[in-house]
Amino acid sequence: HAADAHRTDLMTITRFVLNEQSKHPESRGDFTILLSHIVLGCKFVCSAVNKAGLAKLIGLAGETNVQGEEQKKLDVLSNEVFIKALVSSGRTCILVSEEDEEATFVEPSKRGKYCVVFDPLDGSSNIDCGVSIGTIFGIYMIKDGGEPELEDVLQPGKNMIAAGYCMYGSSCTLVLSAGRGVNGFTLDPSLGEFILTHPDIKIPKKGKIYSVNEGNAKNWDGPTAKYVEKCKFPKDGSAPKSLRYIGSMVADVHRTLLYGGIFLYPADKKSPNGKLRVLYEVFPMSFLMEQAGGQAFTGKQRALDLVPKKIHERSPIFLGSYDDVEEIKALYAAEE
Ligand code: AHG
Ligand code: MN
Ligand code: MN
Ligand code: MN
Repeated sequence: HAADAHRTDLMTITRFVLNEQSKHPESRGDFTILLSHIVLGCKFVCSAVNKAGLAKLIGLAGETNVQGEEQKKLDVLSNEVFIKALVSSGRTCILVSEEDEEATFVEPSKRGKYCVVFDPLDGSSNIDCGVSIGTIFGIYMIKDGGEPELEDVLQPGKNMIAAGYCMYGSSCTLVLSAGRGVNGFTLDPSLGEFILTHPDIKIPKKGKIYSVNEGNAKNWDGPTAKYVEKCKFPKDGSAPKSLRYIGSMVADVHRTLLYGGIFLYPADKKSPNGKLRVLYEVFPMSFLMEQAGGQAFTGKQRALDLVPKKIHERSPIFLGSYDDVEEIKALYAAEE
C-alpha cells in the first residue's frame, strides 16, 4: 500500500543528502559529514530551547556581544554548541558567528575545505516569551587550496554552496538548499531524526502578506514608505495585504516561504544599512528564496551579488514572492 510504503520508507535528512551526493561521484561525503554535525547542533539547541524555561536557561548571560546586544544564556550556549560541533566535524576551516567578534580559524589538524557562517540563535528577543526562534547557516567552499584567510568568508552570497535554517517552534523544522531546490525536514523526537516533510518547496509567485516592523515607519526612506502604503491602501481596488511580523527572522521567513508574501527589514535614518547581518542572515535567506523561485533585493541590488567587506556587515533586505519583490524594486528604480 502506498501509504504504508510512505510510512516505512523514512526519508531522513542524512539519506536525502546521500542521495543528492550520489549525483556527485567526485564528492567524498565531506558535505554529508559537515551537514550531519550541523544537524547534531540543531538537535541539541532544539532540546535546550524546549527545556529553557525549566532549565533556568531563560534570561541574560550578563555579557554583550559585538552587535552591542545583551547576550542571552541560550545565545551563548547555542554558539558554543555549534562552534564545537563544526570544529569536531573536521570539515571546516573558518567559522563566523553572530556571537563572536572575530572569525574562528580552525586548527590545522582539524581543518576541512568548508567555511560556515551562522547565527546560532536568531530571534533572541523572543526566547523568554516562548515565541519561535531559530538557527541560520550558510556554507562556502574555501576559495583556493591555500592557507584559510578572511577573504574566504567575504565572498558574495551567490558563491554559497548551501544554506539553511532550523526553526524551534511548535515543531523543529530544518529547511535546506544545496543549490538544487529547497527541502524541509521535521524532527521526529521519538526517532531523533529529521524526516522529509516539505519536498521541493516553491514560494507562491505573489502573496497577500507583508512583514515589517511598522514601529520604524518614521525613519523609512521614500520607496519603502510608498510600498508599505500600497500594501495598506492599494490604488487598484485590490484587497489590502495582511501584516504578519513575529520579530524572529527565521519564523517570518519560514511563513513567507510557505505562504508567500514579502519580508522587509529596510534601511532607516537610524541604521542606514538596516539591522540584518549580511553573512549569516541576509545571504542564507536570500539563497533559499531564490532556490524556491522567489527573490531578494537590498534596495540597490540583488542581495546575493553583494560583496561583504566585514564579517558583521549589515544590509537592508526585501525578500519573498517574485512579483512582490518586483514591485519594491520598481519603486527604488524610480527613485534613482
Ligand atoms: P538575533 O536575535 O539573531 O540578533 O536576530 C534578531 C533579528 C531578526 O531575527 C529579526 O528579524 C529582527 O532582529 C527583528 O528586529 P526588530 O526587533 O528591530 O524588528
Ligand atoms: Mn543577536
Ligand atoms: Mn539573527
Ligand atoms: Mn542571533
